[in-house]
Amino acid sequence: MNKIDRAGFGSKLGAILASAGSAVGLGNIWRFPYETGNYGGAAFILIYLGCVFALGLPIMISEFIIGRRSHANTAGAFQKLAPGTQWKWVGRLGVITAFLILSFYSVVAGWTLEYVFEAAGNGFAGRTPEQFVESFDLFSTNPWRPLIWLVLFLLATHYIIAKGVEKGIERSSKVMMPVLFVLILVLVGCSVSLPGASAGIEFLLKPDFSKVDSNVFLAALGQAFFSLSLGMGCLCTYASYFKKDTPLIKTAVSVGLIDTFIAILAGFIIFPAAFSVGIQPDAGPSLIFITLPNVFHRAFEGMPFLAYIFSLLFYLLLAVAALTSTISMHEVATAYIHEEFKVVRKRAAAIVTGGCIIIGVLCSLSLGVGRNIALFGLPLFDLLDFVTAKFLMPLGGALMAVFVGWYLDKRIVWEELTNDGALKAQSYKLIIFILKFIAPAAIFIIFINELNVI
Ligand code: PFF
Repeated sequence: MNKIDRAGFGSKLGAILASAGSAVGLGNIWRFPYETGNYGGAAFILIYLGCVFALGLPIMISEFIIGRRSHANTAGAFQKLAPGTQWKWVGRLGVITAFLILSFYSVVAGWTLEYVFEAAGNGFAGRTPEQFVESFDLFSTNPWRPLIWLVLFLLATHYIIAKGVEKGIERSSKVMMPVLFVLILVLVGCSVSLPGASAGIEFLLKPDFSKVDSNVFLAALGQAFFSLSLGMGCLCTYASYFKKDTPLIKTAVSVGLIDTFIAILAGFIIFPAAFSVGIQPDAGPSLIFITLPNVFHRAFEGMPFLAYIFSLLFYLLLAVAALTSTISMHEVATAYIHEEFKVVRKRAAAIVTGGCIIIGVLCSLSLGVGRNIALFGLPLFDLLDFVTAKFLMPLGGALMAVFVGWYLDKRIVWEELTNDGALKAQSYKLIIFILKFIAPAAIFIIFINELNVI
Protein backbone atom coordinates (compact mmCIF):
# COMPACT_ATOMS: atom_id res chain seq x y z
CA MET A 1 0.00 0.00 0.00
CA ASN A 2 1.34 3.35 -0.82
CA LYS A 3 1.98 5.84 1.95
CA ILE A 4 -0.28 8.50 0.49
CA ASP A 5 -3.37 6.25 0.51
CA ARG A 6 -2.84 5.22 4.09
CA ALA A 7 -5.36 6.36 6.68
CA GLY A 8 -4.26 8.51 9.61
CA PHE A 9 -5.44 10.49 12.60
CA GLY A 10 -6.53 13.97 11.57
CA SER A 11 -5.15 15.83 14.59
CA LYS A 12 -2.64 15.67 17.41
CA LEU A 13 -5.46 15.71 19.95
CA GLY A 14 -7.07 12.77 18.13
CA ALA A 15 -3.76 10.88 18.36
CA ILE A 16 -3.55 11.51 22.12
CA LEU A 17 -7.19 10.65 22.82
CA ALA A 18 -7.12 7.45 20.75
CA SER A 19 -3.91 6.27 22.45
CA ALA A 20 -5.24 7.25 25.87
CA GLY A 21 -8.45 5.38 24.97
CA SER A 22 -6.40 2.27 24.36
CA ALA A 23 -4.62 2.68 27.68
CA VAL A 24 -7.66 3.55 29.81
CA GLY A 25 -9.76 0.43 30.28
CA LEU A 26 -10.72 -2.34 32.66
CA GLY A 27 -7.08 -2.25 33.78
CA ASN A 28 -7.60 1.19 35.32
CA ILE A 29 -11.04 0.87 36.82
CA TRP A 30 -10.97 -2.73 37.96
CA ARG A 31 -7.41 -4.05 38.13
CA PHE A 32 -5.63 -0.95 39.48
CA PRO A 33 -7.93 -0.50 42.52
CA TYR A 34 -7.71 -4.12 43.61
CA GLU A 35 -3.93 -4.21 43.13
CA THR A 36 -3.74 -1.02 45.20
CA GLY A 37 -5.94 -2.66 47.84
CA ASN A 38 -3.75 -5.76 47.91
CA TYR A 39 -0.39 -4.04 48.00
CA GLY A 40 -0.67 -1.31 50.60
CA GLY A 41 -2.56 1.62 49.08
CA ALA A 42 -0.51 4.78 48.63
CA ALA A 43 2.84 2.94 48.83
CA PHE A 44 1.81 0.84 45.82
CA ILE A 45 0.67 3.96 43.97
CA LEU A 46 4.06 5.65 44.46
CA ILE A 47 5.92 2.62 43.13
CA TYR A 48 3.45 2.33 40.27
CA LEU A 49 4.11 5.97 39.32
CA GLY A 50 7.83 5.21 39.22
CA CYS A 51 7.21 2.20 36.93
CA VAL A 52 4.99 4.19 34.57
CA PHE A 53 7.34 7.10 34.16
CA ALA A 54 10.74 5.39 34.36
CA LEU A 55 9.97 2.27 32.30
CA GLY A 56 6.51 2.42 30.76
CA LEU A 57 6.97 5.72 28.95
CA PRO A 58 10.31 4.82 27.30
CA ILE A 59 8.76 1.57 26.01
CA MET A 60 5.71 3.47 24.79
CA ILE A 61 8.05 5.88 23.01
CA SER A 62 9.84 2.96 21.36
CA GLU A 63 6.49 1.64 20.07
CA PHE A 64 5.67 5.12 18.78
CA ILE A 65 9.03 5.31 16.95
CA ILE A 66 8.54 1.92 15.28
CA GLY A 67 4.97 2.72 14.21
CA ARG A 68 5.40 6.28 13.03
CA ARG A 69 8.66 5.59 11.15
CA SER A 70 7.29 2.60 9.27
CA HIS A 71 3.72 3.75 8.62
CA ALA A 72 2.71 0.11 8.69
CA ASN A 73 0.87 -2.43 10.81
CA THR A 74 2.97 -4.00 13.58
CA ALA A 75 4.21 -6.97 11.57
CA GLY A 76 4.85 -4.85 8.47
CA ALA A 77 6.67 -2.27 10.61
CA PHE A 78 9.44 -4.68 11.65
CA GLN A 79 9.72 -5.95 8.09
CA LYS A 80 10.21 -2.40 6.85
CA LEU A 81 12.67 -1.33 9.52
CA ALA A 82 14.65 -4.58 9.63
CA PRO A 83 14.17 -6.20 6.21
CA GLY A 84 15.32 -9.77 5.81
CA THR A 85 15.71 -10.36 9.57
CA GLN A 86 13.76 -12.38 12.09
CA TRP A 87 12.49 -9.20 13.84
CA LYS A 88 9.26 -9.62 11.88
CA TRP A 89 8.31 -12.28 14.43
CA VAL A 90 8.10 -9.62 17.14
CA GLY A 91 5.39 -7.88 15.14
CA ARG A 92 3.56 -11.12 14.41
CA LEU A 93 3.73 -12.02 18.09
CA GLY A 94 2.08 -8.66 18.85
CA VAL A 95 -0.77 -9.38 16.44
CA ILE A 96 -1.40 -12.79 18.00
CA THR A 97 -1.24 -11.31 21.51
CA ALA A 98 -3.70 -8.54 20.62
CA PHE A 99 -6.10 -11.02 19.07
CA LEU A 100 -5.98 -13.35 22.08
CA ILE A 101 -6.36 -10.55 24.64
CA LEU A 102 -9.29 -9.14 22.67
CA SER A 103 -11.01 -12.53 22.80
CA PHE A 104 -11.05 -12.87 26.59
CA TYR A 105 -11.15 -9.15 27.45
CA SER A 106 -14.40 -8.94 25.46
CA VAL A 107 -15.94 -11.59 27.72
CA VAL A 108 -15.48 -9.30 30.75
CA ALA A 109 -16.41 -6.26 28.64
CA GLY A 110 -19.66 -8.10 27.80
CA TRP A 111 -20.35 -8.57 31.53
CA THR A 112 -20.22 -4.79 31.95
CA LEU A 113 -23.16 -4.55 29.51
CA GLU A 114 -25.17 -7.04 31.57
CA TYR A 115 -24.51 -4.86 34.63
CA VAL A 116 -25.49 -1.67 32.76
CA PHE A 117 -28.70 -3.47 31.83
CA GLU A 118 -29.31 -4.67 35.40
CA ALA A 119 -28.51 -1.25 36.85
CA ALA A 120 -30.79 0.47 34.33
CA GLY A 121 -33.68 -1.80 35.37
CA ASN A 122 -32.90 -1.11 39.07
CA GLY A 123 -32.15 -4.82 39.45
CA PHE A 124 -29.68 -4.31 42.34
CA ALA A 125 -32.21 -2.74 44.68
CA GLY A 126 -33.06 -4.80 47.74
CA ARG A 127 -30.49 -7.56 47.18
CA THR A 128 -28.61 -9.08 50.10
CA PRO A 129 -24.81 -9.61 49.88
CA GLU A 130 -25.45 -13.34 49.33
CA GLN A 131 -27.81 -12.57 46.47
CA PHE A 132 -25.12 -10.46 44.76
CA VAL A 133 -22.77 -13.47 44.86
CA GLU A 134 -25.47 -15.82 43.69
CA SER A 135 -26.64 -13.63 40.81
CA PHE A 136 -23.08 -13.16 39.53
CA ASP A 137 -22.48 -16.92 39.64
CA LEU A 138 -25.76 -17.61 37.91
CA PHE A 139 -25.01 -15.07 35.22
CA SER A 140 -21.38 -15.98 34.52
CA THR A 141 -22.16 -19.69 34.31
CA ASN A 142 -25.33 -19.26 32.24
CA PRO A 143 -24.69 -20.83 28.80
CA TRP A 144 -26.34 -18.02 26.79
CA ARG A 145 -26.53 -14.67 28.48
CA PRO A 146 -22.79 -13.82 28.64
CA LEU A 147 -22.45 -14.94 25.00
CA ILE A 148 -25.10 -12.52 23.83
CA TRP A 149 -23.35 -9.60 25.56
CA LEU A 150 -19.96 -10.75 24.28
CA VAL A 151 -21.20 -10.79 20.70
CA LEU A 152 -22.89 -7.40 21.14
CA PHE A 153 -19.69 -5.90 22.52
CA LEU A 154 -17.61 -7.27 19.66
CA LEU A 155 -20.17 -6.00 17.14
CA ALA A 156 -19.94 -2.51 18.69
CA THR A 157 -16.15 -2.70 18.42
CA HIS A 158 -16.47 -3.96 14.84
CA TYR A 159 -18.78 -1.10 13.91
CA ILE A 160 -16.22 1.52 14.97
CA ILE A 161 -13.30 -0.28 13.34
CA ALA A 162 -15.18 -0.77 10.06
CA LYS A 163 -15.76 2.99 9.89
CA GLY A 164 -12.03 3.51 9.59
CA VAL A 165 -9.21 5.19 11.44
CA GLU A 166 -10.30 8.82 11.32
CA LYS A 167 -14.09 8.45 11.16
CA GLY A 168 -14.25 5.43 13.44
CA ILE A 169 -11.40 5.29 15.97
CA GLU A 170 -10.51 8.98 16.19
CA ARG A 171 -14.05 10.34 16.18
CA SER A 172 -15.33 7.83 18.72
CA SER A 173 -12.36 8.50 21.02
CA LYS A 174 -13.04 12.22 20.85
CA VAL A 175 -16.56 11.56 22.13
CA MET A 176 -15.96 8.66 24.51
CA MET A 177 -12.90 10.00 26.35
CA PRO A 178 -14.56 13.25 27.53
CA VAL A 179 -17.71 11.27 28.46
CA LEU A 180 -15.56 8.89 30.46
CA PHE A 181 -13.84 11.77 32.21
CA VAL A 182 -17.10 13.47 33.19
CA LEU A 183 -18.57 10.16 34.43
CA ILE A 184 -15.53 9.52 36.56
CA LEU A 185 -15.55 13.00 38.10
CA VAL A 186 -19.25 12.74 38.99
CA LEU A 187 -18.67 9.34 40.60
CA VAL A 188 -15.62 10.56 42.57
CA GLY A 189 -17.67 13.54 43.81
CA CYS A 190 -20.46 11.24 45.06
CA SER A 191 -18.10 8.72 46.61
CA VAL A 192 -15.88 11.12 48.58
CA SER A 193 -18.89 12.90 50.03
CA LEU A 194 -20.26 9.73 51.66
CA PRO A 195 -20.15 9.58 55.46
CA GLY A 196 -17.00 7.73 56.58
CA ALA A 197 -15.33 8.14 53.16
CA SER A 198 -12.26 9.73 54.74
CA ALA A 199 -10.86 6.31 55.79
CA GLY A 200 -10.74 5.36 52.08
CA ILE A 201 -9.12 8.66 51.13
CA GLU A 202 -6.51 8.22 53.83
CA PHE A 203 -5.76 4.71 52.58
CA LEU A 204 -5.06 6.17 49.12
CA LEU A 205 -2.97 9.08 50.32
CA LYS A 206 -0.97 7.75 53.31
CA PRO A 207 1.73 5.32 52.23
CA ASP A 208 2.21 2.25 54.42
CA PHE A 209 5.72 1.10 53.51
CA SER A 210 5.57 -1.86 55.86
CA LYS A 211 3.77 -3.82 53.15
CA VAL A 212 6.38 -3.10 50.47
CA ASP A 213 8.46 -6.05 49.29
CA SER A 214 9.74 -7.25 45.91
CA ASN A 215 6.27 -8.53 45.00
CA VAL A 216 4.92 -5.00 45.18
CA PHE A 217 7.47 -3.83 42.61
CA LEU A 218 6.65 -6.72 40.31
CA ALA A 219 2.91 -6.18 40.64
CA ALA A 220 3.34 -2.45 39.95
CA LEU A 221 5.44 -3.10 36.86
CA GLY A 222 3.01 -5.71 35.51
CA GLN A 223 0.10 -3.38 36.12
CA ALA A 224 1.91 -0.48 34.39
CA PHE A 225 2.46 -2.67 31.34
CA PHE A 226 -1.12 -3.83 31.08
CA SER A 227 -2.57 -0.43 31.81
CA LEU A 228 -0.43 1.41 29.25
CA SER A 229 -1.24 -1.25 26.58
CA LEU A 230 2.44 -2.02 26.03
CA GLY A 231 4.19 -4.90 24.35
CA MET A 232 1.70 -6.00 21.71
CA GLY A 233 1.93 -3.42 18.99
CA CYS A 234 -1.25 -1.57 19.91
CA LEU A 235 0.44 1.78 20.33
CA CYS A 236 2.78 0.94 17.47
CA THR A 237 -0.22 0.48 15.17
CA TYR A 238 -1.81 3.72 16.38
CA ALA A 239 1.48 5.58 15.95
CA SER A 240 1.57 4.44 12.33
CA TYR A 241 -1.44 6.78 11.90
CA PHE A 242 0.29 9.75 13.59
CA LYS A 243 1.20 12.74 11.45
CA LYS A 244 4.77 13.82 10.85
CA ASP A 245 4.45 16.72 13.25
CA THR A 246 2.99 14.75 16.17
CA PRO A 247 5.51 15.09 19.03
CA LEU A 248 6.19 11.54 20.21
CA ILE A 249 7.65 12.25 23.65
CA LYS A 250 4.93 14.75 24.54
CA THR A 251 2.21 12.41 23.32
CA ALA A 252 3.59 9.54 25.40
CA VAL A 253 3.78 11.76 28.51
CA SER A 254 0.17 12.92 27.96
CA VAL A 255 -1.07 9.34 27.54
CA GLY A 256 0.86 8.24 30.66
CA LEU A 257 -0.56 11.13 32.70
CA ILE A 258 -4.16 10.58 31.54
CA ASP A 259 -3.96 6.84 32.16
CA THR A 260 -2.48 7.26 35.65
CA PHE A 261 -4.87 10.04 36.59
CA ILE A 262 -7.90 7.95 35.60
CA ALA A 263 -6.60 4.93 37.54
CA ILE A 264 -6.11 7.02 40.68
CA LEU A 265 -9.55 8.60 40.25
CA ALA A 266 -11.02 5.09 39.98
CA GLY A 267 -9.42 4.44 43.38
CA PHE A 268 -11.18 7.55 44.67
CA ILE A 269 -14.51 6.09 43.53
CA ILE A 270 -14.03 2.64 44.96
CA PHE A 271 -12.14 3.04 48.27
CA PRO A 272 -14.17 5.85 49.89
CA ALA A 273 -17.42 4.01 49.03
CA ALA A 274 -16.08 0.65 50.24
CA PHE A 275 -14.60 2.02 53.48
CA SER A 276 -17.74 3.99 54.18
CA VAL A 277 -19.66 0.72 54.53
CA GLY A 278 -16.76 -1.12 56.16
CA ILE A 279 -16.01 -3.48 53.25
CA GLN A 280 -12.41 -4.24 52.26
CA PRO A 281 -12.10 -4.20 48.47
CA ASP A 282 -10.93 -7.69 47.56
CA ALA A 283 -9.27 -9.04 44.46
CA GLY A 284 -10.39 -10.54 41.18
CA PRO A 285 -13.47 -10.13 39.03
CA SER A 286 -15.57 -10.21 42.19
CA LEU A 287 -14.43 -6.68 43.03
CA ILE A 288 -16.47 -4.95 40.37
CA PHE A 289 -19.19 -7.53 39.82
CA ILE A 290 -19.97 -8.70 43.36
CA THR A 291 -18.46 -6.39 45.96
CA LEU A 292 -19.18 -3.05 44.32
CA PRO A 293 -22.88 -3.38 43.52
CA ASN A 294 -23.29 -4.34 47.16
CA VAL A 295 -21.09 -1.42 48.30
CA PHE A 296 -22.97 1.13 46.18
CA HIS A 297 -26.26 -0.24 47.32
CA ARG A 298 -25.37 -0.02 51.02
CA ALA A 299 -23.44 3.26 50.80
CA PHE A 300 -26.53 5.02 49.47
CA GLU A 301 -29.00 3.30 51.77
CA GLY A 302 -32.04 5.48 52.21
CA MET A 303 -31.21 7.36 48.97
CA PRO A 304 -32.51 4.90 46.36
CA PHE A 305 -32.30 7.35 43.49
CA LEU A 306 -28.61 8.09 44.16
CA ALA A 307 -27.88 4.36 44.50
CA TYR A 308 -29.56 3.80 41.16
CA ILE A 309 -27.74 6.60 39.31
CA PHE A 310 -24.37 5.78 40.87
CA SER A 311 -24.52 2.10 39.85
CA LEU A 312 -25.77 2.89 36.38
CA LEU A 313 -23.06 5.51 35.72
CA PHE A 314 -20.35 3.26 37.12
CA TYR A 315 -21.16 0.36 34.81
CA LEU A 316 -21.56 2.73 31.87
CA LEU A 317 -18.11 4.07 32.67
CA LEU A 318 -16.66 0.57 32.66
CA ALA A 319 -18.33 -0.28 29.36
CA VAL A 320 -17.08 2.90 27.65
CA ALA A 321 -13.55 2.43 29.01
CA ALA A 322 -13.51 -1.20 27.83
CA LEU A 323 -14.75 -0.21 24.36
CA THR A 324 -11.98 2.34 23.75
CA SER A 325 -9.51 -0.45 24.61
CA THR A 326 -11.11 -3.22 22.55
CA ILE A 327 -11.07 -1.05 19.43
CA SER A 328 -7.31 -0.60 19.81
CA MET A 329 -6.70 -4.35 20.07
CA HIS A 330 -9.02 -5.03 17.14
CA GLU A 331 -7.16 -2.46 15.04
CA VAL A 332 -3.82 -4.29 15.53
CA ALA A 333 -5.21 -7.43 13.90
CA THR A 334 -7.39 -5.65 11.33
CA ALA A 335 -4.53 -3.46 10.07
CA TYR A 336 -2.32 -6.56 9.83
CA ILE A 337 -4.79 -8.57 7.72
CA HIS A 338 -5.74 -5.53 5.64
CA GLU A 339 -2.17 -4.57 4.76
CA GLU A 340 -0.27 -7.84 4.75
CA PHE A 341 -2.86 -9.94 2.92
CA LYS A 342 -4.28 -7.06 0.83
CA VAL A 343 -7.81 -7.72 2.09
CA VAL A 344 -10.33 -4.84 1.98
CA ARG A 345 -10.43 -3.18 5.43
CA LYS A 346 -14.07 -4.03 6.14
CA ARG A 347 -13.53 -7.66 5.28
CA ALA A 348 -10.35 -7.76 7.38
CA ALA A 349 -12.35 -6.36 10.31
CA ALA A 350 -15.04 -9.00 9.78
CA ILE A 351 -12.44 -11.78 9.85
CA VAL A 352 -11.05 -10.47 13.16
CA THR A 353 -14.52 -10.04 14.68
CA GLY A 354 -15.59 -13.52 13.55
CA GLY A 355 -12.41 -15.11 14.94
CA CYS A 356 -12.77 -13.25 18.25
CA ILE A 357 -16.39 -14.30 18.58
CA ILE A 358 -15.37 -17.96 18.20
CA ILE A 359 -12.52 -17.79 20.73
CA GLY A 360 -14.46 -15.43 23.02
CA VAL A 361 -17.42 -17.85 23.10
CA LEU A 362 -15.07 -20.71 24.01
CA CYS A 363 -13.49 -18.54 26.76
CA SER A 364 -16.86 -17.60 28.14
CA LEU A 365 -18.10 -21.19 28.14
CA SER A 366 -14.88 -22.28 29.85
CA LEU A 367 -16.09 -20.37 32.94
CA GLY A 368 -19.52 -22.01 32.91
CA VAL A 369 -20.73 -25.17 31.22
CA GLY A 370 -17.21 -26.08 30.05
CA ARG A 371 -15.58 -25.59 33.47
CA ASN A 372 -14.34 -29.15 33.54
CA ILE A 373 -12.46 -28.89 30.25
CA ALA A 374 -8.95 -27.72 31.03
CA LEU A 375 -6.03 -26.90 28.75
CA PHE A 376 -2.67 -27.18 30.53
CA GLY A 377 -4.64 -27.43 33.76
CA LEU A 378 -6.56 -24.17 33.28
CA PRO A 379 -9.91 -23.14 31.76
CA LEU A 380 -9.35 -21.44 28.38
CA PHE A 381 -10.21 -18.00 29.82
CA ASP A 382 -7.56 -18.26 32.55
CA LEU A 383 -5.04 -19.84 30.20
CA LEU A 384 -5.28 -16.95 27.70
CA ASP A 385 -5.14 -14.40 30.52
CA PHE A 386 -2.05 -16.04 31.95
CA VAL A 387 -0.19 -16.58 28.66
CA THR A 388 -0.81 -13.07 27.34
CA ALA A 389 -0.46 -10.87 30.43
CA LYS A 390 2.31 -12.79 32.13
CA PHE A 391 4.26 -14.04 29.15
CA LEU A 392 3.52 -12.52 25.73
CA MET A 393 3.13 -8.85 26.75
CA PRO A 394 6.35 -8.56 28.77
CA LEU A 395 8.20 -10.51 26.09
CA GLY A 396 6.91 -8.21 23.34
CA GLY A 397 7.77 -5.11 25.41
CA ALA A 398 11.30 -6.29 26.11
CA LEU A 399 11.91 -7.13 22.45
CA MET A 400 10.64 -3.74 21.30
CA ALA A 401 12.90 -1.99 23.81
CA VAL A 402 15.86 -4.04 22.58
CA PHE A 403 14.94 -3.34 18.95
CA VAL A 404 14.96 0.44 19.40
CA GLY A 405 17.75 0.49 22.01
CA TRP A 406 20.20 -1.81 20.22
CA TYR A 407 19.19 -2.53 16.63
CA LEU A 408 17.57 0.54 15.12
CA ASP A 409 19.88 3.16 13.61
CA LYS A 410 20.17 5.95 16.21
CA ARG A 411 19.76 8.54 13.45
CA ILE A 412 16.23 7.21 12.91
CA VAL A 413 15.49 7.35 16.64
CA TRP A 414 16.76 10.92 16.82
CA GLU A 415 14.78 12.01 13.74
CA GLU A 416 11.59 10.53 15.13
CA LEU A 417 12.01 12.00 18.60
CA THR A 418 12.83 15.48 17.30
CA ASN A 419 10.54 15.42 14.23
CA ASP A 420 13.59 15.82 11.98
CA GLY A 421 15.24 18.37 14.22
CA ALA A 422 12.20 20.61 14.71
CA LEU A 423 11.87 19.71 18.42
CA LYS A 424 14.31 19.40 21.29
CA ALA A 425 14.73 15.96 22.84
CA GLN A 426 16.69 16.57 26.03
CA SER A 427 15.74 13.16 27.38
CA TYR A 428 17.10 11.35 24.29
CA LYS A 429 20.16 9.84 26.04
CA LEU A 430 18.14 8.81 29.07
CA ILE A 431 15.51 7.12 26.91
CA ILE A 432 18.15 5.16 25.00
CA PHE A 433 19.85 4.13 28.24
CA ILE A 434 16.57 2.86 29.68
CA LEU A 435 15.67 1.01 26.47
CA LYS A 436 19.11 -0.57 26.23
CA PHE A 437 19.64 -1.71 29.80
CA ILE A 438 16.97 -0.97 32.36
CA ALA A 439 13.79 -2.05 30.54
CA PRO A 440 15.08 -5.44 29.29
CA ALA A 441 16.60 -6.21 32.70
CA ALA A 442 13.46 -5.23 34.62
CA ILE A 443 11.21 -7.27 32.34
CA PHE A 444 13.55 -10.23 32.56
CA ILE A 445 13.25 -10.08 36.35
CA ILE A 446 9.42 -9.98 36.22
CA PHE A 447 9.50 -12.89 33.88
CA ILE A 448 11.65 -15.08 36.06
CA ASN A 449 9.61 -14.17 39.09
CA GLU A 450 6.31 -14.94 37.41
CA LEU A 451 7.51 -18.24 36.04
CA ASN A 452 8.55 -19.22 39.57
CA VAL A 453 5.08 -18.48 40.82
CA ILE A 454 3.40 -21.09 38.61
N1 PFF B 1 -4.77 -0.91 28.67
C1 PFF B 1 -6.02 -1.61 28.72
C2 PFF B 1 -6.59 -1.52 30.09
O1 PFF B 1 -5.97 -0.93 30.99
O2 PFF B 1 -7.68 -2.06 30.29
C3 PFF B 1 -5.89 -3.05 28.31
C4 PFF B 1 -5.14 -3.25 27.05
C5 PFF B 1 -5.54 -2.59 25.89
C6 PFF B 1 -4.04 -4.06 27.06
C7 PFF B 1 -4.83 -2.75 24.73
C8 PFF B 1 -3.32 -4.22 25.92
C9 PFF B 1 -3.72 -3.55 24.78
F1 PFF B 1 -3.03 -3.68 23.69
